[in-house]
Amino acid sequence: MLILGIESSCDETAVALIERGENNRIICEKVKSQIPLHKKYGGVVPEIASRSHYETIDKLTKEVLSESETDISLIDLIAVTQGPGLIGSLLIGLSFAKGLSYSSGKPLIGIDHIQAHIESPFITYGEKINYPLIALVVSGGHTSIFHQRSKFETEVFTTTRDDAAGEVMDKVAKFLDLGYPGGPILDKLYPEGDNSRFKFTIPRMSDGSGDFSFSGYKTAALRVFEKHNIKSGDVDFNDLISSFMNSMTDYLILKLKEGIKEFDPKSIIIAGGVSRNSLLRQKALAELEKEGRKVFLPEGEYCTDNATMIAWLGYEKFKQFPKGNYFDRSINSYSRSKFNLKS
Ligand code: KG4
Ligand code: ZN
Repeated sequence: MLILGIESSCDETAVALIERGENNRIICEKVKSQIPLHKKYGGVVPEIASRSHYETIDKLTKEVLSESETDISLIDLIAVTQGPGLIGSLLIGLSFAKGLSYSSGKPLIGIDHIQAHIESPFITYGEKINYPLIALVVSGGHTSIFHQRSKFETEVFTTTRDDAAGEVMDKVAKFLDLGYPGGPILDKLYPEGDNSRFKFTIPRMSDGSGDFSFSGYKTAALRVFEKHNIKSGDVDFNDLISSFMNSMTDYLILKLKEGIKEFDPKSIIIAGGVSRNSLLRQKALAELEKEGRKVFLPEGEYCTDNATMIAWLGYEKFKQFPKGNYFDRSINSYSRSKFNLKS
């Protein structure tokens, strides 16, 4: 069957057409990033994001359909991100998908964005991934570890109490005047410095809970910067970035190890924008696979927001409700996670 995926939860407008069933293939996928629009503000401006989705989504969908040499009458299902994310951005994608569904008579299915990130390595590795699994979803908006007994049985193991890991990388890079988004810039600079020069303490919750907390990293990095009067380009500057990234990634791996101990999973997934980070990927493979664990990371373009993961999960959800009684065009967007997360 042919599935059209639509994603607009944050600052990427994305549309994809895939085929699932006997054949599993990506026919066409497009992502229009808004990075150039938000760059000068050092972060996503929600109103600008909504407007850009509004101006882009129709054109991008037409491009995907025409480059696939198909039209909406030949599609079997429309899958759209329902939440969580920026509410204005989500509403543009969902309203557009609803309109398309009404006018074409095609079924519509709402997809949870976090669940779709967990699905993203399945695009490449499919049945090699086994349940139960644990999944770290780490991006600019989320940092949580989930346990899944099966695809749609998801529970939260731990989540961040404050900032997301990607958000802290973006803020530190902004403070150091390195540009936006910070994660990929810090990734590139990491090998230039001594990663053990500055010590960052791994956060521990005073109430004994296993939650993540990242805001301390931001404060610690800025304190080192000011205390040592570090200037851009100094050896100290490179050492600060390497030490910061080393500790942040150690922290993520440490929490994954706690999850492994708790659930003894058959597979481990790391997904979301920060899963693109070279150091995190390297550590996950070296440290977790060494313990005999199977680690699955999405391919580069499926780490960050994309519509292929939305369409991919759309098919899986459709298989659960094959009679079509699930399709409901009155669904609404939701900005906060359904998984009872704090961020
Ligand atoms: O999943 P995503 O596209 O959007 C959100 O849901 O937030 O993730 C974007 C985040 C940003 O914080 C960005 O800095 C981070 O992912 N990121 C990276 C890398 N590439 C993107 N962080 C570290 N290393 C990277 N290579
Ligand atoms: Zn995302």
